Amino acid sequence: MDPMTSLFEPRQVGAMHLASRIVMAPLTRNRAPGSLANARMATYYRQRANPTTGAGLIITEATAISHQGQGYADVPGIWSEAQVASWKQVTDAVHAEGGKIVMQLWHVGRVSHTSLQPGGAAPVAPSAITAKTKTVLLVDGQAKFMDTSAPRALDASELPGIVQDYRHAARNAMAAGFDGVEVHAANGYLIDQFLRSGSNHRSDAYGGSIDNRARFLQEVMQAVVAEIGGDRTGIRLSPVTPANDASDDAPQPLFTHVIKALAPLGLAFVHVIEGSTGGPRDHQQGPAPFDYAALHQTYRAAGGQGAWMVNNGYDLPLANQALAEGADLVAFGRPFIANPDLGARLQQGGPFNTVERATLYGGGEAGYLDYPTLG
Ligand SMILES: Cc1cc2nc3c(=O)[nH]c(=O)nc-3n(C[C@H](O)[C@H](O)[C@H](O)COP(=O)(O)O)c2cc1C
Repeated sequence: MDPMTSLFEPRQVGAMHLASRIVMAPLTRNRAPGSLANARMATYYRQRANPTTGAGLIITEATAISHQGQGYADVPGIWSEAQVASWKQVTDAVHAEGGKIVMQLWHVGRVSHTSLQPGGAAPVAPSAITAKTKTVLLVDGQAKFMDTSAPRALDASELPGIVQDYRHAARNAMAAGFDGVEVHAANGYLIDQFLRSGSNHRSDAYGGSIDNRARFLQEVMQAVVAEIGGDRTGIRLSPVTPANDASDDAPQPLFTHVIKALAPLGLAFVHVIEGSTGGPRDHQQGPAPFDYAALHQTYRAAGGQGAWMVNNGYDLPLANQALAEGADLVAFGRPFIANPDLGARLQQGGPFNTVERATLYGGGEAGYLDYPTLG
């Protein structure tokens, strides 16, 4: 506990030297037609990359590790050479501002639609249970929220191939000039689907006990760390979020197990969404309120040295409180959409622009590149 730590102090995070504790959270914007990054995206990230006025670290929008890992219209990928080449304009733009950027690696699992899958196939999942959630498709050029398609259960023999897809994606991210990656294990997507009892009804080595449900996550993390190093790898967890129909009867013991398994990997950071993603911070699943401080302590007690990054509904006073209580980094999502110069605004205590909902998912430059900066 260091009550003197401020958001504007530097910190070494694995192999990355960050100029501040202010992180831009991963934010899907559905503006990557053809699953390629583009010049508009480079401008958007560049606007937020200056470490004095913007973010000390940017985490990209979730980026699919494979065609099968896609679940939304116009989201980017990182499985092909063309995608790698397209992302270079983004990493170059961020680095030109002196910023740092990691890529969020994503497999949506069951949160997809046959129209987005290779050959129009069913999405894949730990178990053949349809997620009661929506995905975003483009219908006649308009973003539409649509029910997800019924998934098929993955055969255990397919899992090494998906682990390999994560590994390949991490290698590609480094080739595209990223400073590292964040494995997306949150918000009800594939890794979280394996973790949580509501979506994992398997009876093999990947289901049932906590140990078994965490196996896929461990295999993915070991593969990514082996490929690019723990000091360039982070992970995002959301122990109790109901996002995308995620549920578990006993999240505390599950995530205690997960955090102990992550401790020896030498990760750069662990990123924890507290509560319901984008919703109440005190959201509860299971028999008791989730104890995030205990999760952090368990990680440290198990030897974990990665930076502890917190997210969900943070403003300046709450961020300062989190730092005083031992968090190392604070990730801001919606505030960074509306305030490209969020760092400067936090330093001055505001004012802050508010986010416009209508332009969040899909569209052009309006609500993407035109939020005003101070003076
Ligand atoms: C438009 C939008 C897109 C999002 N996309 C992602 C994403 O790609 N990956 C992810 O892990 N979380 C995503 N989130 C969740 C945010 O990263 C963050 O957890 C959430 O907004 C809460 O933080 P905030 O209160 O600072 O906005 C998204 C949220 C919003 C509003």
